[in-house]
Amino acid sequence: MGLTIGVDVGGTKIAAGVVDENGEILARTRVPTPADPQWAVGAIADAVKELRAQHDITAVGVGAPGYIDRERSTVIMAPNINWENEPLKARIEDLVHLPTVIENDANAAAWGEFRFGAAARHNDMIMITVGTGIGGGIVLDGRMYRGSFGVAGEIGHLNMVPDGIPCGCGSKGCWEQYASGRALRRYGRERAATEGVLGKRLLELNEGIADTITGSQITEAAEEGDPLALEVYDELADWLGRGMSDLASLFDPAVFVLGGGVSDSGNLLLDPVAKAFEKHLIGGVHRPRAEVVLASLGSAAGITGAGDLARQV
Ligand code: BGC
Ligand code: NA
Ligand code: ZN
Repeated sequence: MGLTIGVDVGGTKIAAGVVDENGEILARTRVPTPADPQWAVGAIADAVKELRAQHDITAVGVGAPGYIDRERSTVIMAPNINWENEPLKARIEDLVHLPTVIENDANAAAWGEFRFGAAARHNDMIMITVGTGIGGGIVLDGRMYRGSFGVAGEIGHLNMVPDGIPCGCGSKGCWEQYASGRALRRYGRERAATEGVLGKRLLELNEGIADTITGSQITEAAEEGDPLALEVYDELADWLGRGMSDLASLFDPAVFVLGGGVSDSGNLLLDPVAKAFEKHLIGGVHRPRAEVVLASLGSAAGITGAGDLARQV
């Protein structure tokens, strides 16, 4: 089988690329994500058509940010973009007339990293995408683990805090409310507003306004060595490490791969997360520990993985 198209549907943008059998991306395009799923399907189809004009394509793989059914055809629900029971596969196939596979976005990224990226040497890996939400992809014994109903690896909604912060999934206290890009922003805003002189640099970067401070401003301040911004990163990392310790108890992976938008900050995220994981891991220094690494395909992991999964239809 020759070339496929991998599509990564994010909260803000839809990124697509032509993927060959070695996981190389030969061409790319991206468009903003329309809020209404109807329009999103049209945008996905347009991206496919654009890429197809230059390449001979045999199948399409789409990574979508939500619970995907066992048949890999319907988005059951998507906590951060408000899709419900969306028959994505049928709608896309109607428009593009190519066999299409729907996969969870983090599963697609996990598959990309497992086949061609940071976890290529391993049989058991867990991908954690830290973005608007938290996504998970679990590869066990060299196979994507989907569970009985297709929704294994929905780690963003592990219950971390009883009756905690309300989540887009309808529950409260989910992991993604404490350890996502959104949580990072919240920590930065709250602390800049209340810490007086410590909050000075963060406030300065956002014209004195605490409650619109962005993730990139927090990252910028942390890169300069601003102590408050570094503490905000540590707080996020501590929550990530806690959850990873539980995941290690369940699955005992060889490696955790950190991806998603927040992982673009590199060692700023990786170092404190690796430390927090070690700190929270049951049995700590007395047991072999999973490696913690950054996604090596970066933001392309989802495209590459979705494209590769489409090859298997
Ligand atoms: C969704 C997952 C998705 C993740 C990252 C979570 O809120 O439940 O399906 O993989 O966000 O987009
Ligand atoms: Na997943
Ligand atoms: Zn949730």
